[in-house]
Amino acid sequence: MKLAVVEGDGIGREVIPEAVKVLDALSLPIEKVHVEIGYEKWEKTGYAITDEDLETLKKCDCILFGAVTTPPDPEYKSVLLTIRKELDMYANIRPVKPLAGITGVTGKSDFNYVIVRENTEGLYSGIEEIHDDVAYTTRVVSRKGSKRVAEYACKLAKMRNNNVTIVHKSNVMKSDKLFLDECQQTAESGDVNYNDTLVDAMAYYLITYPERYDVVVTTNLFGDILSDMSAAHIGSMGLMPSANIGDEQAFFEPVHGSAPDIAGEKIANPVAAILSVKMLLQWYGYNNEASLVERSVNYTLNQGIKTPDLGGESTTEELGQAVIDSINSQVETEPE
Ligand code: NAI
Ligand code: MG
Repeated sequence: MKLAVVEGDGIGREVIPEAVKVLDALSLPIEKVHVEIGYEKWEKTGYAITDEDLETLKKCDCILFGAVTTPPDPEYKSVLLTIRKELDMYANIRPVKPLAGITGVTGKSDFNYVIVRENTEGLYSGIEEIHDDVAYTTRVVSRKGSKRVAEYACKLAKMRNNNVTIVHKSNVMKSDKLFLDECQQTAESGDVNYNDTLVDAMAYYLITYPERYDVVVTTNLFGDILSDMSAAHIGSMGLMPSANIGDEQAFFEPVHGSAPDIAGEKIANPVAAILSVKMLLQWYGYNNEASLVERSVNYTLNQGIKTPDLGGESTTEELGQAVIDSINSQVETEPE
């Protein structure tokens, strides 16, 4: 496997090294290519990402990405949107699952669902028209875009509890009727159980009855909001991993940003980045290694080894090292 490693800015430079050490501890045949991308690069060179960087990314099987700072400067083009678009990463996957020894603000512990968010169109398709007294953002929902994300959600459901919830607002927006139809047809032909819910009601249900859900599929903006909201079940921004999936390549990143408020203090939680490695391993088919990483993270957190965002006193490196120690001890005791 050829893996591009992008630390990015801020705490990306602190959590990705820990995630890479975890990967290295597994001794897999992975060739790593380090790529410098982000705001710090822009300050130094005037470019946040070059065509050459994009070519390098395209030549890799997958990407492990930290976080980048996006300044409010209207001249600055979002690096993440550029990468997602150029590499056509159409499905954003965010698992929402409890971690050992941690309770989120909702106090729930019996949830295990995945949000599959369409990642290339919807309200984020970039078609904007701004006049003096009115502005338009065009919402694009295509059959092709809806179908491919629905197919991914159904494929995922088949590996889980075979249940897909389609989230939309088709009573108000005609574009969502197309999304709903396409998802229903895909689930029907794939023999996947499905139901559908309006997005506003879904916000309430997802917080109140998270145990009801398996795979949730939705359009770009709704998925963005529902997935950040779901962080309330988990416990910290520093715990949520994600994947962006395309046909050929995939891109794995913690959900959080570059956290300038704590950058440099060496206290950022590396778990989201380490669990992004777990998703990467799973995507590539290293399933045993993926479970080993997940088990080790849970074991470590359950031991009370926590960074300050979780009420603990460990540093980024101490938490990372504890996960590696747990991996090593399990590898040693595994039967030949
Ligand atoms: P943020 O996710 O960077 O931080 C939000 C809050 O959560 C902060 O208080 C931060 O200290 C805390 N936090 C985040 N990750 C943490 C971790 N691993 N451990 C402990 N605490 C953690 O979001 P914010 O502050 O809105 O954005 C900061 C910068 O990051 C902005 O420039 C924004 O554009 C960028 N950003 C980048 C993303 C990406 O690269 N995928 C995603 C979100 C924001
Ligand atoms: Mg978001």
